[in-house]
Amino acid sequence: MNDSSHADAPATDAAPGAAVWDPLGDLTRSAYCGDLRPEHAGQTVTLLGWVHGRRDLGSLLFLDLRDRAGLCQVVCNQELAPEAHQKASHVRSEYVIAVRGEVVRRAADTVNPAIPTGEVEVLAREVFVLNGARTPPFPLEGEGPLAEDARLKYRFVDLRRPRMQANLRLRHEVAFAIRRYFADRGFLEVETPFLTRSTPEGARDYLVPSRVQPGSFYALPQSPQLFKQILMIGGCDRYFQIVRCFRDEDLRADRQPEFTQIDVEMSFPREETIYELVEGMLAAAFTAAGERVATPFPRMSWEQAMALYGSDKPDLRLPPMLDARGFFAPADLAHLKLDPALPLFAIRIPQVGALSRRERDELRPLAEGRRARFFEDFARIAKAFPQAGAQITAAFAAQGGGEGDLVVLVGAPAPAGEPTFTAHALAAEAGGFRLALGQRFADRHRLLDPRDFRFLWVTSFPMFEWDAAERRWAAAHHPFTSPREEDWPRLESAPGEVKARAYDVVLNGTELGSGSIRIHHPELQSRIFALLGMDEEEARRRFGFFLEALRYGAPPHGGIALGLDRLVMILAGESSIREVIPFPKTARAVDLMVEAPSAVSAAQLRELGIRPL
Ligand code: AMO
Repeated sequence: MNDSSHADAPATDAAPGAAVWDPLGDLTRSAYCGDLRPEHAGQTVTLLGWVHGRRDLGSLLFLDLRDRAGLCQVVCNQELAPEAHQKASHVRSEYVIAVRGEVVRRAADTVNPAIPTGEVEVLAREVFVLNGARTPPFPLEGEGPLAEDARLKYRFVDLRRPRMQANLRLRHEVAFAIRRYFADRGFLEVETPFLTRSTPEGARDYLVPSRVQPGSFYALPQSPQLFKQILMIGGCDRYFQIVRCFRDEDLRADRQPEFTQIDVEMSFPREETIYELVEGMLAAAFTAAGERVATPFPRMSWEQAMALYGSDKPDLRLPPMLDARGFFAPADLAHLKLDPALPLFAIRIPQVGALSRRERDELRPLAEGRRARFFEDFARIAKAFPQAGAQITAAFAAQGGGEGDLVVLVGAPAPAGEPTFTAHALAAEAGGFRLALGQRFADRHRLLDPRDFRFLWVTSFPMFEWDAAERRWAAAHHPFTSPREEDWPRLESAPGEVKARAYDVVLNGTELGSGSIRIHHPELQSRIFALLGMDEEEARRRFGFFLEALRYGAPPHGGIALGLDRLVMILAGESSIREVIPFPKTARAVDLMVEAPSAVSAAQLRELGIRPL
């Protein structure tokens, strides 16, 4: 019988004798609850923590006492310690108490193998009730789904849950290992400003009005990009920082308006230097989390990633797609109403096994909203086009495929007028469908195992993307990325073909980090600004300080930034970075606990030279 249920526990304010709390006095913790083991038997301990649960068996009263390290059972025996028993009979869930008592081994038949302290219990001699607690808004036990809004509003309670405690600890261990890794290699952690100017990373800025310069604004940094480059010009040679960045963009499971980067820059590197450095850092981070990483990571060009996975952040836990167009005669493609000018992607999801009729019908909604043509019944295709079917099966067999694999074809509809797809857009759609299928059948054959860590470097990104709305070229990474040297002569004549010295590190379909070798010649930097449609005046206004810095002996330099939140999320096996950020914001960028953002007084606005709405 557990009487710690949430509904019937009284609110503290109403609890009898609520005001008579024991003082902390000289009570000092001698052990964490969660650390007690049989070798502590016979020791007298002082425990400090929260009441996790209580079972009242009359003269015997059991408390589950919880602290950061875990739970242990405390026994209050009315005969041995009547006063302790009396006090324990008044406590409720989440009261804060101290217990002094003796660690004893439990009798064999009462050992609880479900908890690490299950072989012992503490016989209470004294109980001190230090503070009361309102009924928690949700249970701290169990892994059932909880309303996220309640968890964020009552984060102080949510953080007590063992899962959150474990995530906070993991984050600390990982960050600590990373700091040690860089420090051991001569990298200095240098702080860069938060009140600064806009850094272009593709999102909107958070602006902070200046009181002393009315009408002027600071921007919170989207990243320390320009400062870390200036640190290289400043002779720092090797920099890192575990740093908060701010971006006003649409939020998703892996995006927050403020998030933490592991930001790195070094002088005189080649791409290889950065790859090795980051692989070593990730190996150290994974070791700190009790996992292993195989290095070096495989590499793939952006073109290959798009062609094989339809994504610039491929999830290697599922096999690549193949282009089956060549296996079909032109007349077959016409019969299937497919555009012969574009690939026909064959997707393979391994060892799904035979699909029921209902399961096959369920595939159709996964394709809904997509514009491509989907052929989810491969057996039918193979029957109608036996030669093409056999060739697809043989090509997949060469990859290790076999019976029981699910095969789906995705192609572009034959165009009535203008083609409906570019090759990359079709690949992205097929790639998206491949992932949706993988997730749908993730329970079969341990597909997408979160503990199967498949890293990848994606390299040779295009330097520019055509922004159709603005009718101009935009930087695919950021405008400080160096184009490949052999492409310099055709920067202006063929910008679409220029490749960047940029690289992404990808893990299980998540972009973990992004970086590049930078431009260190002011003339080249000016050319890039001009190509991006920035006239000299604008370039000077926005980046004059930086162009100036480049003129004073900038060493060749490069670096990368990785998302710490995303890294810890994956290590913790979580599917949202909100689970590894102590005080995250909702999808609408609201902190529900402190209620930010909030209105400010008219007086405050006036002081900042801002007219109220
Ligand atoms: P980038 O913009 O790609 O590169 O960011 C680097 C990494 O930061 C993480 N990240 C985020 N994590 C959580 N929420 C967000 N809103 C968010 N935005 C980015 C990702 C991403 O890979 N200055 C360059 C780096 C460089 O060139 O050195 C930069 O910031 O994991």
